[in-house]
This record gives sequence, structure tokens and C-alpha cells, in this order.
Amino acid sequence: MKKFTCVQDIGPLSEALSDAQKIKKDRFAFSDLGKNKTLLMIFFNSSLRTRLSTQKAAMNLGMNVMVLDVNQGAWKLETERGVVMDGDKAEHLLEAIPVMGSYCDIIGVRSFAGLTDKKSDYEEKVLNQFIQYSGKPVFSMEAATRHPLQSFADLITIEEFKTKERPKVVLTWAPHPRPLPQAVANSFAEWMNATDYDFVITHPEGYELDPNFVGKAKVEYDREKAFKNADFIYAKNWSAFTDPNYGKVISTDRSWTVDTKSMELTDGAFFMHCLPVRRNMIVTDDVIESEKSIVIPEAANREISAQTVLWRILKSL
Ligand code: CP
Repeated sequence: MKKFTCVQDIGPLSEALSDAQKIKKDRFAFSDLGKNKTLLMIFFNSSLRTRLSTQKAAMNLGMNVMVLDVNQGAWKLETERGVVMDGDKAEHLLEAIPVMGSYCDIIGVRSFAGLTDKKSDYEEKVLNQFIQYSGKPVFSMEAATRHPLQSFADLITIEEFKTKERPKVVLTWAPHPRPLPQAVANSFAEWMNATDYDFVITHPEGYELDPNFVGKAKVEYDREKAFKNADFIYAKNWSAFTDPNYGKVISTDRSWTVDTKSMELTDGAFFMHCLPVRRNMIVTDDVIESEKSIVIPEAANREISAQTVLWRILKSL
């Protein structure tokens, strides 16, 4: 595998899940594979889970790891061509990328959407420049439109907890005070659409996601109906995708907070969220602390999804 940015890059999900299972059974079984290989993790945005789980995954495979926080201690980077660089940005990404590529074997990149220019965000400019100019395999640690390591971990978690062959999985919008990218929701939809689960998306009007990601999912504006008989509730906030409100918070309606009453509509559903989560905005204390909350095993599976991806990339070097 030479890149990992979306569900298509992982190939058949049954094989990916089988590899993940093998790795989870003995995460040190391939500790020689990454010997003398270096992973460079580049963060344009903050992280807790992605940083730690990916670093741990690389260490399990015997890799060396370097982490660069672009906004802390590195030169400020210009990303657009044609700009007269007379401001505070001292280096262009087009030089920085091949330089970074020369110091490592694999590159992970986190670069969120700016949420002001939909076209630019959905072109995945930064991630694609790394793929084009680094000369090294690149994987996404959350880009402008997708978060595939998260979605892979979500899939692994659902497979571990499901009690039916074809569970009902509901992606629900929930309120948040600040505008967040659509990446986690897009990506979750993309991965769920690649399974044969009964997959439903629910959100207030105005929060429609990009139809390319919604795909064959059923969209239900009535949250009560959506939650009925659900086996998994996956909560996430996202800002508006549709113009003229792209990137804006158009509602913080707290009636969309996932609470005990709404969870009672489900078929004893498990509660999922990628974290970090704002309690009593997205989900109440009661729900996230309940025995049906699987947010911690979900986060723990980030190590497994990252290790499976790195294992596959290392094998292809
Ligand atoms: N879920 C997730 O990606 O967490 P971080 O932003 O902390 O990495």
C-alpha cells in the first residue's frame, strides 16, 4: 500500500479486518518489520489520540518516529503558489515537503479544513501536495475531508461489539459551540457505505453532508425515527457543508444532544464518538459513562487501525 487517504486505499474490508485482528492478537509479532525505518508524523493541527496511537503503532513495528508540530517551532509554511512571500511565512511547502521526505520512509499528515473555502478544502490541497512531492508513502492522520484511521478503528470496534450480522448504525449530528470540519462524518459515512450495515444519517435541516459521502445511506431528519431499533449511535458534530453556510454553525439545538431518553428509543444501542467530546453538548454524562458507551475501546482501536496501515505500507517498501 503506497498511500492511505480513503476507504478505497485499504481494499476489501474483510481482508483489512482480518489483518487488524491478527495484529490485535499479537501486536509485537512484526516488531522487526520496521527496523531502521523512520515514520515522520506532521501535525498542522492538535491531536491526542492520533499522535499517541500512531506513534505506539509504529513502535510496535520497530520503527523510529519523528514528530513535527508545524505551528510550534517550525518555520511558518506557505501553501499557495504565486504568493509573494513578504509576510510571516518563511518557507514554502513545495521545498519543505521534499526535504521532510528525504529524512524518512513513511509520512503521516494531519491537516484540517480551513472551513472558509469549500473548493480548496475539498481538493485536499495540503495532503495531495505531500503525496505528489514527498517521494514517500503518505497516510492521512485526518485531512480536510476524511479521517480514515478513525473510520477504520470505528469499523473494527463495530465488528467487535455487534450482535447481529447486519446491525443498524446511526450517524447523528449533535451540537457544538464552534465550527468543526465534516471530515469525521464524511469518512464514517464512506466506510459504513462500504459495508452492508443498515446505515442511517440524521441531522437538522441545513446540515446535509456532501452527497458524494452520503452515497446510499438513508437520511432521516426525524431523530426519533432514526434512533428506533438502532444498534450503534455514532454522534458527531459538523459545520454546514451547503452554501452559503459552508463552515458555519447554523444551530446549537441542545435537543440534539444524545441523552438517556434518546438512547431508550434504540435497541440497547452502543454509544460511539471519535473523541474529544464536549460533554452535555454532544452527549450527556449519563450516556458517555453508561455501560453502553464504547468510546474507550473505540479510541484504543486507533492503535490497531494505525498499525494495520503501517504494517501494509512497510510490507510494500
Ligand atoms: N479522534 C481523534 O482523531 O482524536 P485526536 O484529534 O485527539 O487525534
